[in-house]
Amino acid sequence: MRTTLEDPVLLPLLSDSHKGGRSALTCQMRCGNACAHDVANTSANSYFGDIAAKALSRRGALRAGALGALVVGVGVAGAVPAMADEIELTGEAEAARHRPSRLRFTPVAPNKDDALRVPDGYRSSVVVRWGDPVLRDAPAFDFDNQTADAQAKQFGYNCDFVTLFPMGHDRGLLWVNHEYTDESLMFRGYSPATATDEQIKIAMMAHGGSVVEVERVGWSGQWRLVTRGRRRYNRRVTAQTPMRFSGPAAGHDLLKTAADPAGLKPVGMLNNCAGGTTPWGTVLTAEENFDQYFVNGDRNNPNIARYTIPTGIPSGNRRFDKVDERFDLAKHPNEANRFGWIVEIDPFDPDAEPIKRTALGRFKHEAATTHVARDGRLVVYMGDDSRFEYVYKFVSRRRYIPGHDSNNRRLLDDGTLYVARFTGDSPKTEIDGSGRLPQDGAFDGSGEWIPLVTGNQSHVEGMSAAEVLIHTRAAADKVGATKMDRPEDVERNPVTGAVYVALTNNTSRTPAQVDEANPRPSNKHGHVVEIVEGSGVTFAWSLPLVCGDPNDPATYFAGYDKTKVSPISCPDNLAFDRDGNLWISTDGNALGSNDGLFVTPVRGPERGYVRQFLTVPVGAETCGPMVTGDQRSVFVAVQHPGEIDGATPDNPASRWPDGVQPRPSVAVVWHAKGREIGS
Ligand code: FEO
Ligand code: CA
Ligand code: CA
Repeated sequence: MRTTLEDPVLLPLLSDSHKGGRSALTCQMRCGNACAHDVANTSANSYFGDIAAKALSRRGALRAGALGALVVGVGVAGAVPAMADEIELTGEAEAARHRPSRLRFTPVAPNKDDALRVPDGYRSSVVVRWGDPVLRDAPAFDFDNQTADAQAKQFGYNCDFVTLFPMGHDRGLLWVNHEYTDESLMFRGYSPATATDEQIKIAMMAHGGSVVEVERVGWSGQWRLVTRGRRRYNRRVTAQTPMRFSGPAAGHDLLKTAADPAGLKPVGMLNNCAGGTTPWGTVLTAEENFDQYFVNGDRNNPNIARYTIPTGIPSGNRRFDKVDERFDLAKHPNEANRFGWIVEIDPFDPDAEPIKRTALGRFKHEAATTHVARDGRLVVYMGDDSRFEYVYKFVSRRRYIPGHDSNNRRLLDDGTLYVARFTGDSPKTEIDGSGRLPQDGAFDGSGEWIPLVTGNQSHVEGMSAAEVLIHTRAAADKVGATKMDRPEDVERNPVTGAVYVALTNNTSRTPAQVDEANPRPSNKHGHVVEIVEGSGVTFAWSLPLVCGDPNDPATYFAGYDKTKVSPISCPDNLAFDRDGNLWISTDGNALGSNDGLFVTPVRGPERGYVRQFLTVPVGAETCGPMVTGDQRSVFVAVQHPGEIDGATPDNPASRWPDGVQPRPSVAVVWHAKGREIGS
C-alpha cells in the first residue's frame, strides 16, 4: 500500500464510535476515555446564566461588526479592577467591514484520503516529523530501535499548538506542543499490560514540546527544518524537564512533595494542547488532560473527582508510576496538583527554566491567548476543555511596558482570574433544543466575568487565594459560572477585537440542559461563540456558527447562504489572518470525513461563509493552525494520523507522511505563485 502526499489511497471508513467522530483509541490515549466517565462537574450551577439581561445597547457590538449586544450596567460584587476594552474601528478597518473578503480559493471537498489535501494552486510539505532530530547530537529516527535517550533529543509525538517566532524574513523558531502519545502505533506488539520500562520512558520523552529552527525555502512560503550548523535554540521539553512555580500558589502546602518540600520545583509538563504567545516573545503552553497519567488518587478527596483523576489503577492507561513513583498518588498525593497549569517557556533561551504560572489557575487548560488592553494591562483568555466546564480570563494588575522585560515578565504572577457567566436574551421557551434560532434571530445575550481571585486575595467564600488557583474548578463552581460545551481554543481577532471560543462538542448535554449559549442537546458538532468585551467586567456574546451539515436545520452559518458553505464539525483550534478572517481547525469530524482547516470572514457580507482550506490524513486531527504575519504560509500540526481502532504498526490505518508508519508532523502550506494564503 502506498500513501504519500502525491500518491494517496482510500482507506476504510472511520470508526463512528464514541459519540462523536473520534476513534476509541483516541479517546483512550488523549484523555483517558473522559467521555465514558461521569461528568465531573456535578455543581448545582445552572446551565443558563440566571441573571436577567439588563439594559442593552448595540453600540459597541455594532462598532465591532458583531451580532451581539453590549451590556452596560451589570455589576459584580467585590473590589476588583474593572477594565475597559471596547473596540473602536476607524478608517480603513471600518470601511473593510462592508466589503467582501479577499478569500478566493476553491474549497477542498470532504474526503477520507490518507493525504494532506490543499486547494488548487497550493502546495504543502512536511516541516518536521515525530522522531526527527531536534538536538545536534540526536540520532536519526529508527522506528524499530527507539530509546528514551534518543526520543529526548528528537521531535516528540502528537503535535498540537504551533507558533513561529520570526528571526528576520528567512529564519524563525518554531514552537510545537507534544500533547500525548499513541503507544499502540509507536511500538510493535504494544500492550499496556506488558509495556516495558523503556517504552514508558520513551512515551514520557515524547510528551512536552519542541523548539526547532526553521528556514524559508527560497522566496516561497515554504519553510523547512534547519538541519545543519549550531541550531543553538533547538530544545526539547519533556515530562522530566525541571521547571519552577511562580505566582500566588507557588510554595503552597498543596504543591509540596517529598522530592520538593518547598513546593517550588515541579518536574515536567504533560498533555500540552493549545497555547499562546506573550508580547515579550515567550510561549504559553497549556497542560490539558493531565489526570490520566496518575493512579491511586484518594477517592474521598472531592478535588480528585472534580479533575477526574483515577482513584485506582485503570487498565489501559499509561503506567508512568512504574518508572517514576511520583505518578502514584497513594505515595505522593500532591503530585497531581503540580500539573494542569499554563507553562511559560522562552524559546530564545534554551537554558531558561519553564515556569508554571499559578496565577492563571489550574484546570484542563486549552489556549492562553494574550492581548494588551487599551489601558495597558495584559489579558489572557483560556478554556477548560471538558464537558460542562468554563471559560476563563486573567487580567494583570500591572501594565505592559514595551521593552521593559523585568516589568513584563512579572505580569503573569499578579492579577485577577475571572470565569465567565453567559446569559441569553431570548425566552427560554424559544431555546427548545431544535437548534432553530429564537425569534430575535440570534443565539445571543450578555455576560460577565466573575472574579475568582486577585493576587493573594480570594473572592470565593471558604477558599484561600492559593486554593482557588489550585482547585480552580471548585472555585468556579461556587460563583455560578456557566457550563459550556467543552471550551477549546479562545482567540482574539486582531482586527475587530472580538474574542472567539471554540466549543468543540458535548454529547452529554440533555434536552433539559440546553441554554442559549449551548442550544443543542447531544451536541455532536459544536459551535463557536463570539464575545465582544464591554466596559468593566461585562461582555456581549452571540453564536456566529452552529456547526454540522449545512443541510441540517439545526446549523447556523451567521445567516450566510448555507448552500455555499463547507460542512464543519468539532471546531478546535482557532487563528486569525491579518484581514481578521477566522481560521478553524477541527478535531473529531462527526460527519464521517477527515478533519480539516476552514476559514470564514467574521464581518462584512461574507460573514459565515465557511470554506474548507485543507484536509488532513485518515485518523488525524488538524492542529496549529498558524497563518504567518506575511500571510504567505500557514502551518498546521497533523496530530495522530492513523489513530483508528485496531490499527497497529503492522497494520497501519495511515502511512502518512512517508508511506511507512504514520508520523505526527507539522506541515506548511503555501501558494505556488507566492500569493497570500486564501487568495
Ligand atoms: Fe487537546 Fe482540548 O484538545
Ligand atoms: Ca437571542
Ligand atoms: Ca485542542
